[in-house]
Amino acid sequence: MASISSALTFLSSSTTNSSSFESKYRSRRRMSKVSCNGGDEQNKMISKGNRRDVLIGLGGGLGAAASFTYNPFAALANPVVTDKNSCGLPNLGDMPGAKPIDCCPPNLETTKAIDFVFPTEDEPIRVRKPAHLLTGEDLEKYKEAIRLMRELPPDDPRSFTQQANIHCAYCHDSYVLNGSTAPPQVKVHFNWLFAPFHRWYIYFYERILGSLIKDPTFALPCWNWDHPDGMEIPAIFTDRRSSLYNRKRNANHQPPVLFDLNWNKAFGDTSGDVDGNLSKVYLSIAAVKAPDTFFGKNFKEGGGKFAASGTLEQLHNPGHTWTGDPTDPNGEDMGSFYSSGRDPLFYCHHSNVDRLWTIWKDKFCGEDFSDDDYNKSSFLFYDENKNLVRVTTEQCLDPSKLRYEYMDVPIPWEFAKPKPTTTKDQRLLALCRTEMNPSKLPLPLNSDNKSFTVKRPSKSRSKEEKAKKEEILVFEVALDKSKDVKFDVLLFWKDDHKKASPIIREFAGSFVNVSHAPSSKDLAVQHQIEISDLLDDLEVDDEDNIQEAHLRI
Ligand code: C2O
Repeated sequence: MASISSALTFLSSSTTNSSSFESKYRSRRRMSKVSCNGGDEQNKMISKGNRRDVLIGLGGGLGAAASFTYNPFAALANPVVTDKNSCGLPNLGDMPGAKPIDCCPPNLETTKAIDFVFPTEDEPIRVRKPAHLLTGEDLEKYKEAIRLMRELPPDDPRSFTQQANIHCAYCHDSYVLNGSTAPPQVKVHFNWLFAPFHRWYIYFYERILGSLIKDPTFALPCWNWDHPDGMEIPAIFTDRRSSLYNRKRNANHQPPVLFDLNWNKAFGDTSGDVDGNLSKVYLSIAAVKAPDTFFGKNFKEGGGKFAASGTLEQLHNPGHTWTGDPTDPNGEDMGSFYSSGRDPLFYCHHSNVDRLWTIWKDKFCGEDFSDDDYNKSSFLFYDENKNLVRVTTEQCLDPSKLRYEYMDVPIPWEFAKPKPTTTKDQRLLALCRTEMNPSKLPLPLNSDNKSFTVKRPSKSRSKEEKAKKEEILVFEVALDKSKDVKFDVLLFWKDDHKKASPIIREFAGSFVNVSHAPSSKDLAVQHQIEISDLLDDLEVDDEDNIQEAHLRI
């Protein structure tokens, strides 16, 4: 596929289980009282031990491939601060057919920003429900609120247009970092700002909607795609007469077509299946232990050489690529970051992403970062009273302080751990097809399957060692960020790669990009996958190397 061959380049791979982060992770203790009773036995064992002692090492260097230019956050050692005087035109470059827009908020320079104040405890808790369960009065209120938002004049910061512009501004380089006059710009994808930024975004959006209908209990629904009943575009969004409707969506993905969480846009329409989707959520949420695997990396590491998104962001990416209109060159609206805020479904999608963050913490003992550069990073939003408010990441870490929560609904993927489909002998018999010599890197990912071998730092570790240090497989890839490229990672897979799906244990994870900036092959991405459990489940922990590691596009 021509568009793929020019869009993805494999740079290197390595596995590691040691680095210098150990003491930092070990010194932190979870303070809040949660049961963390989810997941399988192994997860429980790890959570009793030191779940946070997951160690990261960067890949084995770039060798001949160190020739790309993306380096937006190099040497950044301060929290990201969004400055109101430094908003400019978004970087849409030559995105085909994208209409030029200015997505900075109105009156930004002249408005005085105030520091965020928590809602008072007498404010009702807003309970966010799955969209497929929304009926009656709740549904009518939601439609009415969006209708009123659409009626506000476009220069009102609470208007539908301005709310959509927020995503464009933060995701297409409108804000220059920390008030400087030159790049680097603020970016809220492919790094640890993804989760807190989007939490704040929908927090204000929800409160604006509530204030438009004068209902302080109004709660934004969530697209509950991690439950079989929610695995299609919720019907409330597809009624053409409703304010929730958006024309620019994929016509082939209307209900009752199942959302495919493992969708590869390059292969056209495939149907999602419930089991595959549940396994994918299990692998991306329940099985993940370290904050930077889950949230993505910070700017210092992520930006030195690489941008690195976490499994939460990666899991959510197909929600964009699958929903957007494929007849539009940029997949508008959901399929491109500058336009995705124009679809009301976007906010519902992010409500579910936010919900999975709360589940990861409460049920699977996930932990937020404790780094000040994370906690003090800040963003600007207009609130429901048109005040410009400065918020920080640490202020959003506890939803109860923000007076919202998610309805307690079943989590059908909690135990959806895939099973190996082959015997150990079969897996080990397959070890002779190494096609790729790592010394030949960089290598274009221009066919649909590359297999290779990765040397491991150590093998046959004890249970205690594994509970302390996770083994991580690290890929380094350069990609054209304007393309919706995807690849899957399969380990010890000896069968036809086309047959592999998230329901088999050999499926280690995937990488998905959502189109988000002008065409250029300049985004170097690091993608990491935690593999200690996987190697145990495949009974290959005694092997010196990861054999038959496949990158399948
Ligand atoms: Cu800012 Cu779903 O992305």
